[in-house]
Amino acid sequence: MAVPGTTPVEQILNGKEVAASVRASLKERTAVYAQKGLRAPGLAVVLVGDDPASAIYVQGKIKACKQVGIESSFHQFPASATFEEIIAVVTMLNNDKNVDGILVQLPLPKHIDSDAVVAAIAPEKDADGLSPVSMGLLMAGKKGLRPCTPAGIIHLLDFYKVPIEGKRAVVVGRSNLVGKPIALLLMARNATVTICHSRTKDLDKLCAEADILVAAVGQKEMIKGSWVKPGACVIDVGIHHDKNESGGSKIAGDVLFAEAKERAALITPVPGGVGPMTIAMLLANTLTAYEMRSNIE
Ligand code: GUN
Repeated sequence: MAVPGTTPVEQILNGKEVAASVRASLKERTAVYAQKGLRAPGLAVVLVGDDPASAIYVQGKIKACKQVGIESSFHQFPASATFEEIIAVVTMLNNDKNVDGILVQLPLPKHIDSDAVVAAIAPEKDADGLSPVSMGLLMAGKKGLRPCTPAGIIHLLDFYKVPIEGKRAVVVGRSNLVGKPIALLLMARNATVTICHSRTKDLDKLCAEADILVAAVGQKEMIKGSWVKPGACVIDVGIHHDKNESGGSKIAGDVLFAEAKERAALITPVPGGVGPMTIAMLLANTLTAYEMRSNIE
């Protein structure tokens, strides 16, 4: 039910559906190479430790590869693995001509320097777009592999024809994974971007100025309905596993969806919004990396 005087929701941004359409077009592209007798694109996934959420994400990524004709290989290590062991597998994958994309699932155990591991990935195989080279190219506005979640958000906005140019975008969160890169991508599309975080003063007032509000702060339901400008487009990147009243599991975002949907014109659900887009963009980056490499055989 819409709150009187506010804009009722017109549309839920269906990431599940849009991701399925991206996968369908990727599948057509890989089929063309298969018909020519070329090898399939390859993604190598590295998982260290036993974080259950990471294991679920990685399984989803591997399953999605299969759906679109990308070969995947899985390299699993116990939480006790050493930095040297992880660097050794990354180096081996960098040199493997059948591997086009390399993904090291984050977070890594605390004793491993994640920045150094990500930096060891060959830039042309950086399917996650998180290496210093990819970040530098993004910062400079040059062509390169883009981080998957921010790329997925832009794809979703474009799919639903959400105008970006000249709009006021507010990003809540400043991570390398989402906050910083989505701010750069929105700025590259001529939005006026404000980056906020958990310690920003008057966060509610800043959010209320946003035509496009991206919540990537990592705090469950922190963004309240009253912080949403009526008619805004709200993108929720948060994923928080929670228990529902009957003891089952439920997933919440960084946005208090029930309130925000009463004011937003467009809003992503959690789950089924940004999450599926992240995986679709990983597949797209892997195929792009394959196409950019000259040793397809
Ligand atoms: N952990 C949470 N999201 C991501 C992601 O997009 N890539 C990697 N490598 N790890 C993650």
